[in-house]
Amino acid sequence: MAKAKRRYVCTECGSVAHRWQGQCVDCSQWNTLVEDAPATVFSTKHDLSTGGRAVTFEALDAPTVPLSRRTTGLAEFDRALGGGIVPGSAILMGGEPGIGKSTLLLQAAASVARSGAQAVYISGEEATGQVRLRAVRLGLADAPLKLAAATNVRDILTTLHDDEPPALLIVDSIQTMHSDTIEGAPGTVSQVRASAFELIRYAKENGVALVLVGHVTKDGTIAGPRVLEHMVDVVMSFEGERSHQYRILRSLKNRFGAVDEIGVFAMESEGLEEVANPSTLFLSGREDPVAGTSVFPAMEGTRPVLVEIQALIVRLQSGATPRRAVVGWDSGRLAMLLAVLEARCGLSFSSAEVYLNVAGGYRLSDPAADLAVAAALVSALADKPLPLRAIWFGEVSLSGEVRAVAHAPLRLREAAKLGFDQGNGPVDNAKAGASLHNRHLNSLANLVDRIMGGQ
Ligand code: TYD
Ligand code: MG
Repeated sequence: MAKAKRRYVCTECGSVAHRWQGQCVDCSQWNTLVEDAPATVFSTKHDLSTGGRAVTFEALDAPTVPLSRRTTGLAEFDRALGGGIVPGSAILMGGEPGIGKSTLLLQAAASVARSGAQAVYISGEEATGQVRLRAVRLGLADAPLKLAAATNVRDILTTLHDDEPPALLIVDSIQTMHSDTIEGAPGTVSQVRASAFELIRYAKENGVALVLVGHVTKDGTIAGPRVLEHMVDVVMSFEGERSHQYRILRSLKNRFGAVDEIGVFAMESEGLEEVANPSTLFLSGREDPVAGTSVFPAMEGTRPVLVEIQALIVRLQSGATPRRAVVGWDSGRLAMLLAVLEARCGLSFSSAEVYLNVAGGYRLSDPAADLAVAAALVSALADKPLPLRAIWFGEVSLSGEVRAVAHAPLRLREAAKLGFDQGNGPVDNAKAGASLHNRHLNSLANLVDRIMGGQ
């Protein structure tokens, strides 16, 4: 056998290089190459076209077994998964350290165990004592959950092999796991990949739903091995601001259901509480009309969530460069909106500082937020409060037109349900009037006239 060569793997895209270099040639990221275990080198004469077993082909309309799902008892968790966990599936749960992944999974596992099915929780980060303390605090200590602290995948699989396979297996976290089939310390790309591979194979062969916890780096990618995302059936991300209470569980990839479904939780002293009506969470404390605030019905997957947008405009006396600061929205998008308001509506923000905040630490990605942000900005500039029970949605183009957006009826219905009585939306969404009185807008100029005119 030829001598194994050193190789380096990019922690971002997983591509392999044979020489270390500062920049990955495939994804152009810097300083992402790390040394990996050497690949096994086979002789070139190795012929794979003989000696294998025949693979059977199947017709597309061959009978299939309907997908069976198991609910965990945590409705928000099940919802984000598309209706529950699928036996034999692998789920990767990513999130920043301290966001609540272990708490959520302990709650889910305990709930499955209480329902009579077997659930196993393998902790690679915390000692069992720590996990038990948390379970006591969460009121879960009586759940017949099988808990163990372990990091060696062979030990874990050997133990599980001797028993009835559990319905749910949680491995917290994959970066602490170690497989003795290859060299390398836990957390390296090759170790994470090999450990995940063995665990996923066990899950598939035994119909076990497997949840792998994965740490996430600052820029939001699951640390190191992007490769994991390809190996699993479902990728979920647990997000939120640590300083705020709420957490959103988002599905980014789901082989068994829709992506973009979310579950909403609030971190309380007794663990994660499910929030069945997230709009109330983000709108709390709106009693008097305040200039510079507007309400936007955001869509999270198929679910509308009402959030408050707050704008503050401070006129500068000196000629200093004014600041623009945004929390919870895209700063490029804010710059664009300000430019459109200046160019198409004659409003001037050039000598004013502009601050924009999405209440509750919520992060908006829906393009339909443009109109709500514009409404907050104009209201702040004119110092005129918007009607308390009004919502605003629509995408704004560079020409200042208000464009139609998806899911207008759902947005309006949610707002009506919460007692809003004025819907300001794109004229092209007018048919979606639903149960809410709808005020149609076709341009930003329209919006400015309406707010400045106090209508
Ligand atoms: P944890 O689940 O350990 O996060 P992760 O596994 O994602 O790293 O959650 C840690 C944080 O959650 C910790 O800072 C304290 C907070 N927390 C509560 O506020 N209430 C609780 O009941 C629990 C268990 C944790
Ligand atoms: Mg943890």
